[in-house]
Amino acid sequence: AKPYVFVTRKISEESVELLKNSFEVKVWEEDRVVPREILLEEAKKADGLLIMLTDKIDSELINQAENLKAISTMAVGYDNIDLQSATEKGIIVTNTPGVLSEATADLTFGLLMTTARRISEANRYVLEGKWTKWSPMLMAGQDIYGATIGIIGMGRIGEAVAKRATGFDMKILYHNRNRRPEVEKKLNAEYRSLDELLKESDFIVLLTPLTPETTNLIGKREFELMKSSAVFINVSRGATVDEEALYDALINKKIWAAGLDVFRQEPVPIDHPLLQLENVVAIPHIGSASIKTRKNMAIMAVNNLIDALIKKESPNIVNIEVLE
Ligand code: GLV
Ligand code: GLV
Repeated sequence: AKPYVFVTRKISEESVELLKNSFEVKVWEEDRVVPREILLEEAKKADGLLIMLTDKIDSELINQAENLKAISTMAVGYDNIDLQSATEKGIIVTNTPGVLSEATADLTFGLLMTTARRISEANRYVLEGKWTKWSPMLMAGQDIYGATIGIIGMGRIGEAVAKRATGFDMKILYHNRNRRPEVEKKLNAEYRSLDELLKESDFIVLLTPLTPETTNLIGKREFELMKSSAVFINVSRGATVDEEALYDALINKKIWAAGLDVFRQEPVPIDHPLLQLENVVAIPHIGSASIKTRKNMAIMAVNNLIDALIKKESPNIVNIEVLE
């Protein structure tokens, strides 16, 4: 029999067809996250899973998944997968880096501009019928051109954001686990310690993957180091930020505004304190959501799964130790 593959959300027809060439395929067709019981049941039968960032692949699931050989996530981040358990069970895990870097950088820059120039708030103002007069300081925001941007997490996406920032004549600072001399040279970026970056930047852009080291990376102490005019942008994962500390920083004017694509709880509940603030721009985890990029990610996730199940190889394995 052909290997059995379960896909946790509807992806492009083209990519499902590609899977069907090699496997018996079942796609979860409903427009909601697969219920836990069904995911557990499917994982027990499946040779391969093609999953989304909303699926929780923990040790309980992995330990019951007797046939499972590969997990392909249609995302660059894989903090939703217990990588250690997967590796112990010999399960290959793959992600989709690269294809989404430019689209995510576009969104990041758009969120930065929307937050700095209060575009979303201004749009609400017009739609709510509040535009009854004009005044010189109406919806006045922060300058982007010539400002200092501090990028935390200088991976492919960070680099693509820095490239956009050069078009705005921004001074580019970055913090990363490893220094990136080639990026420093190419984009005129300067390395800073985290604290230095927080103190000097007008825009602080968080792009780091979520790991034990980056959980709660930005909290009370970090917000206190920022300028009172600082704009904070998070496009990584919600858990990298202490949301209560962010709320306090915004309410007490320790920072100026925040643009958030990610939250600790997603979907973020409508009564979340951060959503009550005028100077917060909230969007629903859509960093890489361009039509073309989502199609490319689906194709890449499919090819990763085919490679992993058939060749026991793939250029996008995140737990490379599994092959040893
Ligand atoms: C989105 O957040 C991703 O990790 O691809
Ligand atoms: C994503 O591709 C990153 O490395 O930032």
